[in-house]
Formats: sequence, C-alpha cells, structure tokens
Amino acid sequence: MRVTRAAICGSDLHLYHGLMPDTRIGHTFGHEFVGVVDEVGPTVQNLQVGDRVMVPFNIFCGSCWYCARGLYSNCHNVNPNATAVGGIYGYSHTCGGYDGGQAEYVRVPLADVGPVTIPDWMDDDDAVLLTDALATGYFGAQLGDIAGGDVVVVFGAGPVGLYAALSSWLMGAGRVIVVDHLDYRLEKARTFAHAETLNFTEVGDVVLHLKRDTGFLGADVAIDAVGAEADGNFLQHVTTAKFKLQGGSPVALNWAIDSVRKGGTISVMGAYGPLFSAVKFGDAMNKGLTLRMNQCPVKRQWPRLFEHVRQGYIKPADIVTHRVPLEHIAEAYHMFSAKLDDCIKTLVLPSAA
Ligand SMILES: NC(=O)c1ccc[n+]([C@@H]2O[C@H](COP(=O)([O-])OP(=O)(O)OC[C@H]3O[C@@H](n4cnc5c(N)ncnc54)[C@H](O)[C@@H]3O)[C@@H](O)[C@H]2O)c1
Ligand SMILES: [Zn+2]
Ligand SMILES: [Zn+2]
Repeated sequence: MRVTRAAICGSDLHLYHGLMPDTRIGHTFGHEFVGVVDEVGPTVQNLQVGDRVMVPFNIFCGSCWYCARGLYSNCHNVNPNATAVGGIYGYSHTCGGYDGGQAEYVRVPLADVGPVTIPDWMDDDDAVLLTDALATGYFGAQLGDIAGGDVVVVFGAGPVGLYAALSSWLMGAGRVIVVDHLDYRLEKARTFAHAETLNFTEVGDVVLHLKRDTGFLGADVAIDAVGAEADGNFLQHVTTAKFKLQGGSPVALNWAIDSVRKGGTISVMGAYGPLFSAVKFGDAMNKGLTLRMNQCPVKRQWPRLFEHVRQGYIKPADIVTHRVPLEHIAEAYHMFSAKLDDCIKTLVLPSAA
C-alpha cells in the first residue's frame, strides 16, 4: 500500500518511551493508516491495484476460534506471542514484529481479511481515524454496557477518551464527565463531546469529588482511556517509568475502581504492558464490579460507525490538531509526547502521497 495518511496514537507513546518489550531498532511504527493499493500478492482476491483502502490496526486471520467469534484483536494465528497479545502493525516484536504505516509504503498481510475499500463519501482524514482511535473510543463505551440515563466517567481526554465520551451519548448515557489535567483537552471534551469536565489537579481528591458529584453513590460506568502512563500518583509513576517494576501505572484504573458505585462497570481501553500492575483488585472484587477490556477489534465496529459518520453524528476529523510531513515525524512525536502546542491528534502525510 502507498500510504496517503497515517496518524500517531497514544499507544505509540508507550513504544516511544520504551515501555513495550522487544521494540527493535529499525522497526517501523504506525498502526493507523490509509492509502492506495500499489501491488497485490498472488492470492489476494478482494483488492485491486488503485483501490483506496483503510486497514484496521489489528492483523488477523479471519478464521481461527477467536476470529470466528469476532475477537479479531485476539487472533491466534498472527503472532508467536499469541497467548499474550494479537498482531498489531508497527507495535514491536511482542505484537508480531509487523512493520507499520508511518511510512511511504506498508506491507499488508492477510489483505483479503482486514482492509476494506473506503466508501466514496468518506474523507481520508475521517477514514484514518476509524482505523483505531474512533473505533477504540466507541468500543470503550460499548464495553461499559451503558444503560439509559447512566452516569459515565471517562478518564483521559485524548483521542480515545474524547471519542468514548461522545459515543457514550449515542449509547444512552444521562451524564458524561471527562477527567484529565490538560485544560485544552478538557475544553475539547466540552465542545466536541458535550461532556462535563474535571481537572484532577484542581480538586484535592478526585475520587471524593466524583462521589460528591454523584450523590455519594458513584458513577455507573467508568472508562479508562489513559493506560500505562497515567499521571497523578508519584509512586506509581516512578515504579513504572523509572524502575519498570510494573507494566503500567494504573492510577486512572484505580480511580475508576474507587469512583464507580458498587456493582458498576469499568471498561479499560488504556493500554497496559504485559507485566504485573498494582491494581486495586480487592476493592473491585468487594464492590462487585464488572471489569471489561481488550484491544479493540476494529473491523467489528465499522458497519455501525460508518453509519454514524455518514449521518453526521460523529465527525472524526474534528479532533485533528496537526498535520506534518513524514520527514518531520520526530518533531511530531516530541510535540505529542510533551503535549505541546495544544496537540490532540496528529496526521502524518508521507511525501509519496
Ligand atoms: N485498547 C485499544 O485497542 C487501544 C487503542 C488505542 C489506544 N489505546 C490506549 O488508550 C490510551 C489513550 O490513547 P490516546 O491516543 O487518547 O492517548 P493520549 O496520550 O493522547 O491521551 C491520554 C490522556 O490521559 C491523560 N491523563 C494522564 N493521566 C491521567 C489520569 N490519572 N486521569 C485522567 N487522565 C489522565 C493525559 O493528560 C492525556 O490527555 C493509551 O493508553 C493508548 O495506548 C488502546
Ligand atoms: Zn493505537
Ligand atoms: Zn484469527
């Protein structure tokens, strides 16, 4: 495929910060990309040279026990480490060692299974966001099992959190509250996702604040859209980022466990590494919580999301803040990592486009 648009995901930052085991020098990152078919292998039947295509971030076979049940992100045939994680483009040899799409060209294995041609009415900018961020945010809301009128708290106002908050309304939420510490992103949560917002640095105890705000019951549903590199707890941060003693700093996840009501549901979209993490599991158990999580099975979300985009309920590209040529991708990673220049989502434009 000749790549026409790629994007940088919050997950790429875990690679960039050295948290993902077996990330090898020379590995090409990038799991959000769309483009044009440049050449096809001898067994490919569904795609032709010149087709405009979008590719889910998961690589999957379409026929194993998991794929047969729609669990594409858990495919058993595409990664030697398949018992731990599925196949993901540009996401280290832990995830199969497939080179990714932050490049001029990318090889797409099992091309009859994952990719689809982009509908004529869909813009490339929207399509690239459907290959991960939007599908994941929507999946996050789905796993929350939101019932009509539910109070939903979303931790993280990055692309995944913003889309999860917006999707929560589509699933019947009565209140949506987004928590972060970056004011420019909380502003986006208000304007793009129509959510209430909470800057966790402005309240002493975020859990107590959320409890007070929900009649001391707690929220019905919490969505973790932060993952392994959460801020807000020095000890968790040091044991993860500096000493690599755990596979992620579960600050947001622990806040989620503490701030939902008993019997509530927690949906974890934030990514955690394969190592142990200091999660408050006993509290989750004693509160009778339901914990749901996965890498998003992207293609499963597409039929529904295509309709939402076509009807104008979701305008995916509204969260894009930056477009950079591929040659400047190093600066783009730095900007996104340090959250400079009010960066939310960066699209990468290869010069071959
Ligand atoms: N499950 C999946 O399939 C899947 C797919 C895509 C991304 N992800 C993961 O989702 C997470 C979010 O991705 P993104 O692209 O939105 O990343 P991002 O880095 O743009 O956003 C993360 C946000 O969390 C905020 N944050 C940090 N600590 C917090 C805390 N304690 N409480 C609340 N907010 C906090 C940050 O300020 C930031 O705005 C990442 O962990 C990423 O790896 C998972
Ligand atoms: Zn991603
Ligand atoms: Zn499979």
